[in-house]
Amino acid sequence: MRVAVVGAAGRMGRLVVGAILDAPDLHLAAAFGREGAAASGSDAGTLCGRAPAGVSLRPVGDVVADVWVDFSLPAGLDLALNHIRPGVPLVTGTTGLDARLRDRLDATAATRPLVAAANFSTGVALLRSLARIAASTLPSADVEIIETHHRHKRDAPSGTALALASDVAASRGVDLASVIDHGRHGETGPRAEGRIGMHALRGGDINGDHTVWLAMDGETVSLSHRATARSTFAMGALRAARWLVGRPPGRYTMDDVLGLGAVGAEDAFTRS
Ligand SMILES: NC(=O)c1ccc[n+]([C@@H]2O[C@H](COP(=O)([O-])OP(=O)(O)OC[C@H]3O[C@@H](n4cnc5c(N)ncnc54)[C@H](OP(=O)(O)O)[C@@H]3O)[C@@H](O)[C@H]2O)c1
Repeated sequence: MRVAVVGAAGRMGRLVVGAILDAPDLHLAAAFGREGAAASGSDAGTLCGRAPAGVSLRPVGDVVADVWVDFSLPAGLDLALNHIRPGVPLVTGTTGLDARLRDRLDATAATRPLVAAANFSTGVALLRSLARIAASTLPSADVEIIETHHRHKRDAPSGTALALASDVAASRGVDLASVIDHGRHGETGPRAEGRIGMHALRGGDINGDHTVWLAMDGETVSLSHRATARSTFAMGALRAARWLVGRPPGRYTMDDVLGLGAVGAEDAFTRS
């Protein structure tokens, strides 16, 4: 399977290129970077710490490939959509898309299979699926979501924590905004039934931990995920790429890729 990578010199791109070079079933068809990038012309294998791959970093352009994988910037994705051949599948993890580019992605899904997700962790996709099952199986359990991130994170709660909360709310058929409680302090009174508590811990260099905690009389259930390395996103994207080749045109999610089956919750990731 011939894979073209956009953003190949970036942090994610190098991980994707390295994983392609390590995989016996994948072949690096092209390594695209920003026009005028310092690394232009460098060997893509060398860039990611492997043996030379015989593929040089070059500006986004035409190539014969079975699938494209993009982790760049919105401008890189825009260029990729100009050059990718009709019908060729696209996997993109680039975030920060404006409305025009989101519309462009929606339009391209009419002509090619597409997975666009801001979190390609297969573990997070599984956690979300388990959270939906737990929330509907235990409809009266008190649910609290706890997320932990490094001290540099600027926003709270994390997009993943919000996605988990929306999964729980959707599984119970309630509107998230009307049941969520962000932290607690002071005279809170007893916990009201049906609320979803949300708590953000900050400190150290933690990549991202998420726990969905369900408490009932006599027992509790904790569902937890810990991200330990960014390579998980690269592996998830390549899993999506392998799965997409040969599919009919359309917009697919990581749930589709993993065979988890969506339970109606909107994918909050794709909004970022
Ligand atoms: N979906 C997920 O699971 C997931 C996980 C992690 C990150 N991300 C997202 O993936 C994207 C990349 O993240 P990153 O950490 O790898 O960032 P990064 O290290 O800054 O890499 C981005 C790369 O894209 C290149 N680029 C910029 N404009 C381009 C263009 N017009 N054409 C081709 N290449 C271009 C950059 O080149 P220069 O360095 O020369 O500018 C850089 O090498 C971000 O949007 C990030 O939020 C998604």
